[in-house]
Amino acid sequence: MSAASQLPKVFVVRSFPPEGISRLKQHCQVTVHEGEHTATRQEILDGARGMDALFIYPQVKIDKELLDAAGSQLKVIGTFSVGLDHIDIDLCKERGIKVGYTPDVLTTATAEAGVALVMATARRIQECIQAVKDGVWGTAWDNAMWLAGKEIAGSVIGIVGLGRIGLAIAKRLAAFEVSKILYTGRNPRPESADPIGAEFVTFDQLLEQSDFVIVACSANDSNKGLFDESAFKKMKRTAILVNISRGVVVDQDALYNALKSGEIGAAGLDVTTPEPLPTSSPLLTLPNCLVTPHIASCTVSTRNAMCELIVDNILAGLEGRPLKTPVC
Ligand code: NDP
Ligand code: DGY
Repeated sequence: MSAASQLPKVFVVRSFPPEGISRLKQHCQVTVHEGEHTATRQEILDGARGMDALFIYPQVKIDKELLDAAGSQLKVIGTFSVGLDHIDIDLCKERGIKVGYTPDVLTTATAEAGVALVMATARRIQECIQAVKDGVWGTAWDNAMWLAGKEIAGSVIGIVGLGRIGLAIAKRLAAFEVSKILYTGRNPRPESADPIGAEFVTFDQLLEQSDFVIVACSANDSNKGLFDESAFKKMKRTAILVNISRGVVVDQDALYNALKSGEIGAAGLDVTTPEPLPTSSPLLTLPNCLVTPHIASCTVSTRNAMCELIVDNILAGLEGRPLKTPVC
């Protein structure tokens, strides 16, 4: 048997930053799904078979079917995400499979993207760009209120989920001289909130009082469809919703109706259901709905750092060492 064939086997489900993958290749037999198309579920099931480690991202669901297909030799899974809603963690624990993820290294990039969505929706950037392209700038300018936006200064910011990213967004927006920062969650987090003067309120209080509602929570059973018809009715008619969490937290049909009828002012979404969002989605017909393709963590330095961290986690798991950033 050749030395290479003794090395642990790792299946990498799509292309990731090459420096990290090269390091992985120095220690493992690595199979990367690199093709014209995203790996299908069947290709992932086939690719996982007989592997010691999997390098995945949030679009890959880790469930019984996949773990069974991989086989009992599977030791570690590294996910290119801080979100874990795609992984059956209890089942991984039950089977003794270690899971590593990417907290902290993506907080800044994701928070900056959240602030970008706040600014872009507040100042109607999507409509502004379209107006210039459509050549309506000249005559429309006759109306002094054409494309009038909303100031962040003096506004009430409501953060749903004051975790790492929620806090990083709140800190950045505080510099805009906002009047108040509110937050909600399952528990008050005074150690994060007190230094920035953020006030813990109920979900309904946050909806009623906020000018900007920013969703930065993890997705779990407690918040699927949290933003439904009744939630939008409680929001200010001028309020802006920004979601960088997960699409499932928002009922998209209810959001469409709320945006269309003017029940709320605008939305900026980095995450949707499904992903990719079909180009036929009614949300894409609305001038007051800005959608980005789940790229909040996507800066060059952050994506490289995420990849390095997952490689560290996978190598540690394969060598029987504690993971650097373990989920379990
Ligand atoms: P953290 O674990 O630090 O924070 C998660 C927060 O969610 C906690 O404060 C938790 O608070 C809160 N939370 C959970 N359930 C609820 C609920 N029902 N209502 C309100 N708050 C809730 O994670 P991060 O800040 O690092 O990441 C947050 C999420 O952001 C990820 O899980 C991921 O889904 C998403 N994300 C998206 C990215 C993108 O590209 N768009 C990039 C990176 C992350 P408590 O327990 O007190 O309720
Ligand atoms: C995450 O980390 O959860 C994002 O969705 C992917 O960067």
